[in-house]
Amino acid sequence: MAHFTKATSVKDWLNQRLAIEKVEKVMASEYWIPKNINFLWAMGMVLAITFALLLVSGIFLLMYYQPDVKDAFYSVNYTIMRDVDFGWLWRHVHGVAASVVFLIIYIHMFTGIYYGSYKKGREMIWVSGMLLFVTFSAEAFSGYMLPWGQMSYWAGMVITNIFSLGGLHLDGLVEWIRGDYVPAQAFLTRFFMLHVLLLPLAIMGLIGLHFAALRIPHVNNQDGEEIDFDVEAKKYLAGDKASSKVIRFANDFMSKDLMVVGFFLIFFFYLVFFQYGFALDPVNFDPADGLKTPAHIYPEWYFLWSYEILRPFSVNIGLIAFGFAQVIFVLLPWLDRSPNAVPASRRGAFSIWFWLLLIDMIVLTAMGKLPPEGMFSTIGLVAAVAFILLWVALPFITMNEKKV
Ligand code: HEM
Repeated sequence: MAHFTKATSVKDWLNQRLAIEKVEKVMASEYWIPKNINFLWAMGMVLAITFALLLVSGIFLLMYYQPDVKDAFYSVNYTIMRDVDFGWLWRHVHGVAASVVFLIIYIHMFTGIYYGSYKKGREMIWVSGMLLFVTFSAEAFSGYMLPWGQMSYWAGMVITNIFSLGGLHLDGLVEWIRGDYVPAQAFLTRFFMLHVLLLPLAIMGLIGLHFAALRIPHVNNQDGEEIDFDVEAKKYLAGDKASSKVIRFANDFMSKDLMVVGFFLIFFFYLVFFQYGFALDPVNFDPADGLKTPAHIYPEWYFLWSYEILRPFSVNIGLIAFGFAQVIFVLLPWLDRSPNAVPASRRGAFSIWFWLLLIDMIVLTAMGKLPPEGMFSTIGLVAAVAFILLWVALPFITMNEKKV
């Protein structure tokens, strides 16, 4: 057993048993951050804070929500929204955070793509990030089922039906997922379990993995500079803070992170109090009715781009294109063949690729919301084909990129 001495303080007592000083150094005061990064690097912290807001507001909603097909709609729209003091506030915080978290995730992802932060040594940061994206998507979808309104019911019906379409014909799987022939009590109960227990646990584990994956390669920087963190940290600790290229995470860099979080929270609570409508679909204010299909069934804005990749093709090709869109981002570190971990602006053809992909996904999102008729379906088809071609072209574009 280790040697223990009489403790001189509570901190010393804990230190002997939990090595808190060492943990504090590894996680905070000797966690080195490059000086040359901009506000976009605060998005990770903004995401962590938004997830905390989702957890806290979700716990309050859980105190009154009833996971029962007879009561769910009323427990949300009457009990929480009208009877419980400030129930509306927790619901608006939860709904707005669920939408805004995807906006920040997309900004965070595209920052990573622009600066090449998924390259050699950082693959696990990227892969754990993509796993977070998938689990967040499942979390949002399962949460959308819970108010048991018209959109909950019909979105649940359409998405689970995907497995029975075209050549797939996995009707047994669809029944197995639903626990019934149509979305009903078994369906609501299992999506409730996923939403409040299994997926949040998975997200917390994945955030831990994402942070751990950052520890060895360290965060990238906006100049594509290769920094020797050991040398720069020694300089800093020796007192040469001005010429060292790094600073401590806590409290130095964290103060900058928290300033961005502060601006974000002003924007966030402005949305919660004055613009919450965008996060609540009007069709979902009608209780679920299996005999009345809504005129247009479309997902939330953050799923529209991948929905639009499914829609313009014939069933089987659409399913393949949809499957492709779901996995292709994970493979980015291996599809980009260039070793250059520098901003896209210095990478020639890759820069054009980056902006085309971003614009294409915005077009797909806009078309996904519109009914698939006339011009819109043609634009949707062109954008979906362009999405696939862009990814197929990536290895060829990056293979011959000059080393910078
Ligand atoms: C909601 C969950 C997420 C949280 C809480 C989170 C948190 C963080 C934090 C705190 C950082 C370090 C600081 C920064 O660069 O912002 C980071 C970096 C990173 N994240 Fe995430 N992230 C999440 C989702 C994602 C997703 C979906 C991706 C995309 C695949 C991703 C990819 C990355 C990459 C590539 C870096 C490295 C940036 C660099 O080295 O410069 N993250 N993340």
